[in-house]
Amino acid sequence: MFREELLVCLAATTRMATDNRDRAHGPANGTRDPDGDRYDAHLERSRIVWDRWSDYYTMSENDLEPMREAAIDRLDLEPGDRVLEIGCGPGVNFDRVRSEIGEHGELIAVDYSPDMVAKARERIEHHGWENVDVRRADATTVEFDEPFDAAIATLSLSVMPNIHRTATTVHRSLVADATFVVVDIRPIPDGPGRVLNPLLWRFLRWYANWNPDDDVVDALATVFDTHEIVDTSLAGTLYTVVCEKGD
Ligand SMILES: C[S@@+](CC[C@H](N)C(=O)[O-])C[C@H]1O[C@@H](n2cnc3c(N)ncnc32)[C@H](O)[C@@H]1O
Repeated sequence: MFREELLVCLAATTRMATDNRDRAHGPANGTRDPDGDRYDAHLERSRIVWDRWSDYYTMSENDLEPMREAAIDRLDLEPGDRVLEIGCGPGVNFDRVRSEIGEHGELIAVDYSPDMVAKARERIEHHGWENVDVRRADATTVEFDEPFDAAIATLSLSVMPNIHRTATTVHRSLVADATFVVVDIRPIPDGPGRVLNPLLWRFLRWYANWNPDDDVVDALATVFDTHEIVDTSLAGTLYTVVCEKGD
C-alpha cells in the first residue's frame, strides 16, 4: 500500500517538475552568467523553489539535526574562528556554529532565496547575534574581502547550478589548511534499491531543484587536496564529506 502511494506521489512530482520548469524565467538582476542560459534558468528556479519552501522549512529542520551537528563538530572550530556557510536556508546551523566560535568569531552565511534570507535574518535578530551575518548572493560567484578559517554546506551544494564552480569559490575563500564539511544527498549508490533512483531523481529535482548534471563528491575531489566520505545514512543517500584545502 505504502509503495503504491509513494509511486503516485512521485508521478505527481514528475508532472509538477515539468510545470515548474515551464515557469522558470531569466536571470535575476545583477547575476553573473558563467554558463549561459542553463545556469541562469537553474538559478532562477532555485529562487522560486526555495522562496516557496521558506515558510515550511523550519517544520522539518530538527529531522537532520544530529547529522548537521556531527558535521559542525568535524570542523573543529575554535573561539574566534571566521566561518563561511553556503546555502544557509533559514539559518538552521547558526546556533551550533556560533556556540563553537563564541562572540569573537564570525559567521558569514550566503543564500540565494530572498525569503530564506529574510527567515535567517529574523533568527539572527531574535537571538541578538551581532557576529552572524547573512547575505543574499549566488554562492557560486560570490566574493569576499577576507578569507575564512572553515566552511560548511548542508544540503545545499547539490542544488547549485554549477557545483564544481561553487566548490572552487569555497576553496578560494578559505585560508590554507582549512576544512570544508559538506552534508548532501544523492541517488542510492549501490544495491537493488538503485531501481528507485529515477523516481528519486525526479522527486529531488521537483522538491529541491537538485542538479543532476554535476556530482558533488567528484567536484570536491577535483578541487580540494583531500576529501573523505565520513558518514552515510538512508541507504547511502545522505552523506557527509570532509575536505581539506592543504597549504
Ligand atoms: C535544502 S536547503 C538547505 C538549507 C540548510 N543549509 C539546511 O541544512 O537545511 C538549500 C538552500 O540552498 C539555497 N541555494 C540554492 N542555490 C543557491 C545558490 N546558487 N547560492 C546560494 N544559495 C543557494 C536555497 O535557497 C536553499 O535555502
